[in-house]
Amino acid sequence: MAKKLFIKTYGCQMNVYDSARMAEALAPLGYRSVEEPADADMVILNTCHIREKASEKVFSELGRLRALKDERPDGAGPMLIGVAGCVAQAEGEEILRRAPQVDMVFGPQTYHRLPDLVARARRGERALDTDFPAEDKFATLPDRPRAVSATAFLTIQEGCDKFCTFCVVPYTRGAEFSRPAAEVLAEARALAAAGAREITLLGQNVNAYHGAYHGADANGREEGLGGLIRRLAEIEGVERIRYTTSHPRDVDDALVAAHRDVPELMPFLHLPVQSGSDRILAAMNRRHTGDDYRRTVDRLRAARPDLALSSDFIVGYPGETEAEFEATLRLAEEIGYAQAYSFKYSPRPGTPAAEAAEQLAESVKAERLARLQALLNRMQTVFNEASIGAEMAVLFERPGRRPGQVIGRSPFMQSVHVEAAGDLLGEILPVRIAAAHANSLTGVAVAGGPAMPPIGGRAEVRA
Ligand code: 5AD
Ligand code: SF4
Repeated sequence: MAKKLFIKTYGCQMNVYDSARMAEALAPLGYRSVEEPADADMVILNTCHIREKASEKVFSELGRLRALKDERPDGAGPMLIGVAGCVAQAEGEEILRRAPQVDMVFGPQTYHRLPDLVARARRGERALDTDFPAEDKFATLPDRPRAVSATAFLTIQEGCDKFCTFCVVPYTRGAEFSRPAAEVLAEARALAAAGAREITLLGQNVNAYHGAYHGADANGREEGLGGLIRRLAEIEGVERIRYTTSHPRDVDDALVAAHRDVPELMPFLHLPVQSGSDRILAAMNRRHTGDDYRRTVDRLRAARPDLALSSDFIVGYPGETEAEFEATLRLAEEIGYAQAYSFKYSPRPGTPAAEAAEQLAESVKAERLARLQALLNRMQTVFNEASIGAEMAVLFERPGRRPGQVIGRSPFMQSVHVEAAGDLLGEILPVRIAAAHANSLTGVAVAGGPAMPPIGGRAEVRA
């Protein structure tokens, strides 16, 4: 009988990809994914360590799981509990010490060894594996499944060598590593054959991608992200390409040219700037200024005028003054974001910024966050309202909450809700946008229309 596997994923899209691959690695052992932890035979928490709140959640969830594990009926066998991801990587020993209900702890670089970890846990051993192993994780994992959803993630790059002073990623995910281009293209072909129409390339620093060249006559040549995108666009069935997360320093000419030349590359880019103040950017070790970022955005928009942008911001970095925070507000307003994420600075153990003397009061961070979010929300509303009346190509990804409702994405990553008679899942269809809300659009599928390129230039998003 199939065993029930419940994986709870926290944090970034890379964790979503990793969770999918964990489930695939466990399928040969008889595990099938379920939606609830209640009577699961195995529960894995795939954790995030990026901000304090994210890792606190893990320990409270482990408390709830302990109760579930203790309630297992006789004869059901023990519920195996695994903690994966970046909290596991950073605090593996501590988790085993504080949480006796946990059977397996493994990091983002060792989940391909799950079958071995499970065997050890079944023998009653508490297995810890947070190595950075020499073998290629991706080559060891089973092939991708035969059916996937219309939109799929594909990790092409992991880790980070940038060492921004606030960030744990270089410590939890390790050094920068790019998968060989041939391996990426093979996985993309498998995903397309299994039904994916959109592929989102993932990496902590995805545009630092420099995979070994795919050709036989390689001579040590490497493929950058721009070149890789061109090759992906040639794959039958791949109709949309996105990538995330990128670093402003790694936007090279080949990538800008891909935005100009490759229609499959969607006109939306998440390009985190973190701050608009040059002094704070330097303190963060971002190695670019506000103006460098503005010029990068200008180059991208010259190549792709309708490009919509998103960013991450941190407010209340140690020593940030009111004037420096206002520089962030100014930069956000000048760029005009379609959407963005913003966070209060959260000191992370082991990072340089956590040691800085001038930590700001929680109240200052909260007040600045509220002001920045008010601006970002206004810009998002303006951007969404500018879509009303436009026809946009929407890829339908999942059923909505109400019967007959389907939810898809516009080229600009807006969530689009449509009432539909037939089954539109997996289709790319033109939709006329009728109304805009804070976080989504509603529209009407244009009957009989062919799939079409997006129309409408970039909306003016000054708030
Ligand atoms: N505090 C607050 N936000 C952080 N981020 C990363 N580290 C921290 C931290 N210590 C944010 C950055 C990054 C996003 C993924 O999380 O904005 O781009
Ligand atoms: Fe963290 Fe900076 Fe690397 Fe992004 S670029 S993962 S913020 S260290």
